[in-house]
Amino acid sequence: MKIAIVTGAASGIGLGIAKALLAQDYAVATMSRRSVDCYPEFLSLLQRHSGRMLYVQGDVSSAENREALLAEVLARWGRVDLLVNNAGVAPKERRDLLDMTEESFDYVVNINSKATFFFSQLVARQMLRQEISERFRGIIINIGSVSDALVSTNRGEYCISKAGIAMITQLLAARLSGEDIMVYGIRPGVIRTPMTAGVTEKYDQLVESGAFLQKRWGTPEDLGNAVLLLAGGLLGYSPGQVLTVDGGLSLPRL
Ligand SMILES: NC(=O)c1ccc[n+]([C@@H]2O[C@H](COP(=O)([O-])OP(=O)(O)OC[C@H]3O[C@@H](n4cnc5c(N)ncnc54)[C@H](OP(=O)(O)O)[C@@H]3O)[C@@H](O)[C@H]2O)c1
Repeated sequence: MKIAIVTGAASGIGLGIAKALLAQDYAVATMSRRSVDCYPEFLSLLQRHSGRMLYVQGDVSSAENREALLAEVLARWGRVDLLVNNAGVAPKERRDLLDMTEESFDYVVNINSKATFFFSQLVARQMLRQEISERFRGIIINIGSVSDALVSTNRGEYCISKAGIAMITQLLAARLSGEDIMVYGIRPGVIRTPMTAGVTEKYDQLVESGAFLQKRWGTPEDLGNAVLLLAGGLLGYSPGQVLTVDGGLSLPRL
């Protein structure tokens, strides 16, 4: 059995990733800020797979909480084969760039990029202490976004945070590939999850207008499959590779 930490796996994309990993031979540990009772679907998964799942309530932007999650995983399973930095937030309110507050900037960047970097740093140190298993000491996958390149002036802090993740993936890949730790990124497009529930109409119209090459929203299952592809080790000679999962939304066209 392989051991995965997937942050924010109680809902949305993270839940899709957790399900995909559980269908393979993985144990999955996760952390979200709210009580597990807020997540009925995740809770029933947890009850069904209690021997292979771990839920720790906490905030990934807290160093103490990140350390607590890793400590629980090590106490239970003794190693980490896969880290998926998935937990992320949109701004609480979409505001024009000229009205963005420092508070909102700090909130989004601290969770989306700063926590991604420092959790990777913490877990990479652990992976370096591990023996190689099936070619690698471990694999780290960062969930970025097509918003690292596509501009939305009403949620600039989100775009900045995801552009940061793109560089974090490259930096970690440059530092860790030679140590048998693979680092990859995934850039989702528009995925149907609680995060996008408030902007359904806007994205429905985009889908209808043909802005996506494939006329549908992305699903958490699409992202679960992408993680399985990268975690499976078949891209073992492609450090820092970033997979775009967006139905063609960001493909340049004339
Ligand atoms: N949906 C999309 O269209 C889309 C597109 C591109 C990229 N993404 C990225 O994909 C990732 C997942 O998004 P999603 O759409 O699945 O969102 P979601 O449905 O809102 O799920 C996010 C999960 O992360 C957890 N989380 C958020 N902040 C956290 C924190 N500080 N500490 C611990 N857990 C935290 C949430 O739980 P709590 O609220 O209980 O903490 C929740 O379980 C994010 O990084 C997002 O930016 C999403």
